[in-house]
Amino acid sequence: MTAPLIELEKVCKTYNQGQLNEVKALHDVSLAIEPGVMVCLQGASGSGKSTLLSIIGCVFPPTSGRAAIAGKQLARMPDRFLTIHRRNTIGFIFQHFNILPGLTVLENITLPLMPLGIAPRARKERAERLMGMLSISHRANFPARQISGGELQRVAIARALINDPPIILADEPTAHLDHTLSLAFMEIMQELQRAGKTIILTSHDALITQHPAVERIIAIQDGEIHVP
Ligand SMILES: Nc1ncnc2c1ncn2[C@@H]1O[C@H](COP(=O)(O)OP(=O)(O)OP(=O)(O)O)[C@@H](O)[C@H]1O
Ligand SMILES: [Mg+2]
Repeated sequence: MTAPLIELEKVCKTYNQGQLNEVKALHDVSLAIEPGVMVCLQGASGSGKSTLLSIIGCVFPPTSGRAAIAGKQLARMPDRFLTIHRRNTIGFIFQHFNILPGLTVLENITLPLMPLGIAPRARKERAERLMGMLSISHRANFPARQISGGELQRVAIARALINDPPIILADEPTAHLDHTLSLAFMEIMQELQRAGKTIILTSHDALITQHPAVERIIAIQDGEIHVP
C-alpha cells in the first residue's frame, strides 16, 4: 500500500485559546489520505472544513495532535519553514479566489514565484503554459478586476498550479459558479488527478460530492470526523 501523503492523528484546533471567545473548531481528527486521490470534505457551515483544509494546507499547525503533510510534521516547524513547505507542497484555491484586482492576470498567476528568485522569463513561460491550458491566455494583460467570475476562478487555479505542487486544495470552489463552469472546474480537477495530483475539495454541492472522480467523502460534524 502507498504511504499516506497526509496523515493527521488526534488533531485539535482551538481558536483564541484560553480567551472568552475560544472556539474548538476541530477535535481529535484522525485521517490518512493517499497520494493521487480526489477527496471531498463535507459538513454543515461551521463544522470545521476550512480549518481542516488550512491545517492540511500548512497555513497553521494544529493546537494539539500530529499533522504530517508530505513527510513533514507541522507542529515542530518554525513559521518560516512552514511557509517554505507550503510553497513547495500546496496549491490553494480559496473560496473567494483572493486575486488582487489591481494586478494583471499574468502578475497574479506568477505572484507565488516572486519569493523563489525565478527569472522573469521563466515565470512568464510557466504562466503562459497554464493560461493556455485554462483558456485564459487572451486575458493575460487584463487587470483582474476586468475579467469575469469564471475567468477569475481559472486565474486562481493557474496561480495554485504555478509551483507544480503535489497537493491541490480548493475551498467551496463552485460556490460562485454556474452549472457549466462547475462542470468545467471538475473536469480540470479530474485531469490534474490523472496527472498524479492529490486533490482535496470542500463542498455542499452535489455536483462535486456525487462526481465520479471523487473517490472519498470525509464527513465532518461539529469539528469531528463523522463516521456514518
Ligand atoms: N479565525 C478564526 N477565529 C475564531 N474562530 C474561527 C476562526 N475561523 C473559524 N472559526 C470558527 O471555527 C469553527 C469552524 O469554522 P470553519 O471556517 O472551519 O467552518 P466551515 O465548515 O468551513 O464553515 P463554512 O461552511 O461556513 O465555510 C466555526 O465555529 C467558526 O466560527
Ligand atoms: Mg469554510
